Amino acid sequence: MKNNKHMEELKKEVRALLKERDAIMLAHNYQRDEIQEVADLTGDSLALSQEAAKSTAKVILFCGVRFMAESAAILSPDKTVIMPRPDAGCPMADMITPEDLIKEKEKRPGVPVVAYVNTTAAIKALSDICCTSANAVRVVNSVASERVYMIPDKNLSHYVSLTSSKKMQWWHGWCPTHERLKPVEVIKAKDANPGAVFVCHPECHPDVVKLADHVCSTSGMYKFAKETSAKTIIVGTEMGILYRLKKENPDKKFIIPSKALICPNMKLTTLEDAVIALKEMKNIITVDESVRLKAKAALDKMLAVPRDV
Ligand code: 13P
Ligand code: SF4
Repeated sequence: MKNNKHMEELKKEVRALLKERDAIMLAHNYQRDEIQEVADLTGDSLALSQEAAKSTAKVILFCGVRFMAESAAILSPDKTVIMPRPDAGCPMADMITPEDLIKEKEKRPGVPVVAYVNTTAAIKALSDICCTSANAVRVVNSVASERVYMIPDKNLSHYVSLTSSKKMQWWHGWCPTHERLKPVEVIKAKDANPGAVFVCHPECHPDVVKLADHVCSTSGMYKFAKETSAKTIIVGTEMGILYRLKKENPDKKFIIPSKALICPNMKLTTLEDAVIALKEMKNIITVDESVRLKAKAALDKMLAVPRDV
C-alpha cells in the first residue's frame, strides 16, 4: 500500500515534469483516481481527441489505452505523444484485423464503413469515418448512403440501429468489461434502490441497454448525473467513472451494479509510470505516415459532426 505522503510527492513530481516538458496530461474517465486528479483534462474518447487536435502543448502525456493515444498522434503529428504504459491496449480494438475488414468491404462494394474509435490506426485508415459513443448516432446518420457497415462493436452498432433509419450491418466485436454486466445484476440493484435511475454505456449488451433510463458516453454520464432529479443513480460502465461522479455530485448516491465492471488495461497506468515516461521521454507513440493520413481523414470527418450526448 502506497502511503499518502508518497502519493502526494508523486503528484507534485508529475506536475513539475509536465511544466518542464511543456506537456499536457490527458486522462480517460476510467483512469485511476490519482491520475484523474493530476490530469489537465479528463474526458471521453471524443473530448480527448478534440483536445489533442487543438492543444498547443509540445508534448501530450496520454493516460488511457493505446487506440486513444494513437488517435492523438494521428491528429497532432507536430506533438510528441507519450503513453506511460504502451502495453495498455483495448481488447475490442484487436477483435478486427485489416484483413478481416478488407474481406467485409469486398462483400459490400461502395458501402461506407463507420469505425468506432476503439480500433487500430490501420483499421481507421481503411474506414470512411470514425465515431465515438458520444456521436455514433449522428455520425451514422450523416453518411450519404442508405447502407452502413459499422465496426467493431456489435453492441454499440445494435444500439445505433435502434434509432437510425440506415440499413446497418456490423462486425461481431465487443468490450469484455461491459459484456460482463448482466441484466439480473441491474434488476437486483433497481429492486434494492426504489426510485433509482439506470444509466449505461452503449457498449453494454442489448439486454442491459433495454433496462436503461439513459444511454450515453462516459462524459454524457456526468451531464446526466447533474441534470437528473433522481438521488440514486445506477451506473453501467467501468468503475473509474465514480471518481468525478462523486466529486461533482456529493449529494447523490452512485451504484455500480457489478464488481466485474473494471477494465484491467485502464488501470495499468500509475503515477510512477507517468514520472518515468516524462523523465525519460519514452514510449513515444507514432503512426506510419501513409496510414496516419488516411486515418486522419476518417477522424477529421468525425470531428466535424456534433456530439449526440
Ligand atoms: P467513451 O468514449 O464513452 O469514454 O468510451 C470509451 C471506452 O473505451 C468505453 O469502454
Ligand atoms: Fe476497451 Fe472495454 Fe476497456 Fe473501453 S472498457 S478500453 S472498450 S476493453
